[in-house]
Amino acid sequence: MPIAYQDKTHTFQLDTANTSYIFRVYNDGYLFHEYWGRRLRPVDLTRLFKGCYSSSFNPNWPGAAGGMDSLDLLPAEYPFYGSGDFRSPAVEAAFSDGSRLLNLTYVSHEILPAKPPLPGLPSLDGGDAALEVTLADTATGLTVVLSYTVYEDSDVITRHARIVNTTGEAVRVGRVLSASVDLPGINYDMIGQYGTHSRERQIDRVPLRHGMQAVESRRGASGHHSNPFLVLAAPDAGETAGEVYAAALIYSGNFLAAAEVDANNVTRLQIGLNPFDFSWKLEPGESFASPEAVLTYSAEGLGRMSRNFHRVFQGHLGRVKETKRPGPIVLNSWEATYFDFDEDKLRGIIQSCKGLGIDLFVLDDGWFGHRNDDTTSLGDWFVHRGKLPNGLKPVIDCCHENGMQFGLWLEPEMVSEDSELYRAHPDWVICKPGQPYCKGRNQLVLDLSRPEVVAYLKETIGRLLSENDIAYIKWDMNRNITDQYSLGLPADRQPELLHRYMLGLYDLLEDLTSRFPQVLFEGCSGGGGRFDAGMLYYMPQTWASDDSDAIERLKIQWGTSLIYPPRCMTAHVSAVPNHQLGRVTPLRTRALVAMSASFGYELDPTAFSKEERAEVAEQTAYYHAMGDLVAGGDFFRLVSPFEAKGNGEAEGAAWMFVSPDQSRAFAVYVQRLAVPAGPPRRLRLRGLDPQAVYRIDELGADFGGDELMYAGLALPNQAKDFEALRFTLTKKV
Ligand code: DGJ
Repeated sequence: MPIAYQDKTHTFQLDTANTSYIFRVYNDGYLFHEYWGRRLRPVDLTRLFKGCYSSSFNPNWPGAAGGMDSLDLLPAEYPFYGSGDFRSPAVEAAFSDGSRLLNLTYVSHEILPAKPPLPGLPSLDGGDAALEVTLADTATGLTVVLSYTVYEDSDVITRHARIVNTTGEAVRVGRVLSASVDLPGINYDMIGQYGTHSRERQIDRVPLRHGMQAVESRRGASGHHSNPFLVLAAPDAGETAGEVYAAALIYSGNFLAAAEVDANNVTRLQIGLNPFDFSWKLEPGESFASPEAVLTYSAEGLGRMSRNFHRVFQGHLGRVKETKRPGPIVLNSWEATYFDFDEDKLRGIIQSCKGLGIDLFVLDDGWFGHRNDDTTSLGDWFVHRGKLPNGLKPVIDCCHENGMQFGLWLEPEMVSEDSELYRAHPDWVICKPGQPYCKGRNQLVLDLSRPEVVAYLKETIGRLLSENDIAYIKWDMNRNITDQYSLGLPADRQPELLHRYMLGLYDLLEDLTSRFPQVLFEGCSGGGGRFDAGMLYYMPQTWASDDSDAIERLKIQWGTSLIYPPRCMTAHVSAVPNHQLGRVTPLRTRALVAMSASFGYELDPTAFSKEERAEVAEQTAYYHAMGDLVAGGDFFRLVSPFEAKGNGEAEGAAWMFVSPDQSRAFAVYVQRLAVPAGPPRRLRLRGLDPQAVYRIDELGADFGGDELMYAGLALPNQAKDFEALRFTLTKKV
């Protein structure tokens, strides 16, 4: 059984294939976290914590005799405020008499064969066993239910918490984190992600210090600037070895992921909804559920950590389960035309895709209302008759005639002041009347906390999808939420707005994706401004960045791959000079970077030379043959684009995909800057069968799997910047 309860010691042990997670009901009913790490046989670990602490200024818990009986000293399973643990709580609540004191103790537990649903929120399905532990506040009776699910083969445990107002009076919940784990020691590097628009998911790695350190979002979206994900890694942990603890949140709004180190060198790892500007009023009988946290431990470094996340997401996260198969190769119109197109121009582009191996054409921004730039028409999801006098049908027909499906861009959560929708419903936006408000990209945010707004979008977008043969929607969102005030909420519920917005969005997406299961939804938020497991649940691929330059994409895609499967990122070959940076890179390099994700093009194919057409046809043929590895294979990072060795070697980036049966693989090496007469370099591959012999097509030679992994391939001393190499491996029988 992956979840066991030892009656004698009141210990819960959750086991995955390689890990154990252990906590127990300690004296007086307090939950005490004992262990998370490599798998253990059933064990009593209490002795590890006895006699280790001095207790001055660490108050005893209510009614306790003394000694180590302090919640400030014990590693907590779900810490709370008011009973002596001065570190960050996982839960806070305010009662009608003004009290914020909590004293949560064990009431009961249940081990379940299957995971109970988490209504209204995206979460993993399935799992090998689930556990619910019920706690209650001794004074008020407020109930807190801690939920756990074990995913054995991916070494993942999920957690969330539910507060049930069993007190008979209204309660205001101020903080409901999804997971909190107290780990022994301070000796960890914290790895988090930061970025901006066009420079998403860069990697920060810094040693922990005493006190609080965190990544978070306050933007109403998970954001370009951070990602709901945090790693605590042993200082010596790298891609292939070393201990790594990681937590991710299946949520797309404000989040907090924190590490707090106390004076006893206990590190409290926490993840959940950001308590900043959040509280939720619970009437008697009502409950509030936190989003789901996904926890994994790897004793084999960051590579294994990533593969654990990839496996559990592709196995259990909503429509991400569909990404085990390759997606269509798309041609997106944005960088080809921006707002400047008409039916003839689109026909020209679509017709010139014939013979290139492209599966789907996407008409991006500018096809609706009277939108000729970014100042108007969001909300008016009817065809721009000035550009497309005959509607979408001739464009869709043209795609079909040329062997492609049709996809369309939408930005449903937004509205332009210059739109019929805004003129009809000026109160449907998030802002406070009478207060000057912010616009972002000239637009306002629709108030999705209001059921009537969500209902309107279900109807409008549902109609668009019913009336047109649309195979794919690119769902964009081009600003963050400011002026956090809703005309739909009473004064005491205003701090619920941003979470209610997310619940409204999830409701909308649940409706559309279940009514239109044949449509592939791609997420986008000015590129990767909302690249998180919550959005991926509904929209299994996300446009990773508005920076389409292949060299910048090395870092963005590497960072993204730490947690999300490469198949969930969209990457396109764009024109050179690159529109964001002016950089000129070879077509081959652009394609190898883009085809290491969900592949496509974003340029005007009518401008291709004959040679370029032939090269593009070869690229799409390669992806049609090998894309199953990007989709369903194991991903290995080999050479980091973040590394600057400073030892005279040329700097590069490399990665590879290996089929689950290790019979096929492909690896890519991209040179960043070349150096003259640089020292020789080797590329060591990973994930192969050491006993097997592999043919490498591009080298026309055979190699042992052991040779490729342990001795490596010699990298030629490339003379030019930005060149790329591809290695296609087939196991010989
Ligand atoms: C931002 C997206 O990231 C781009 O790809 C493009 O769709 C534009 N919006 C269109 O306005």
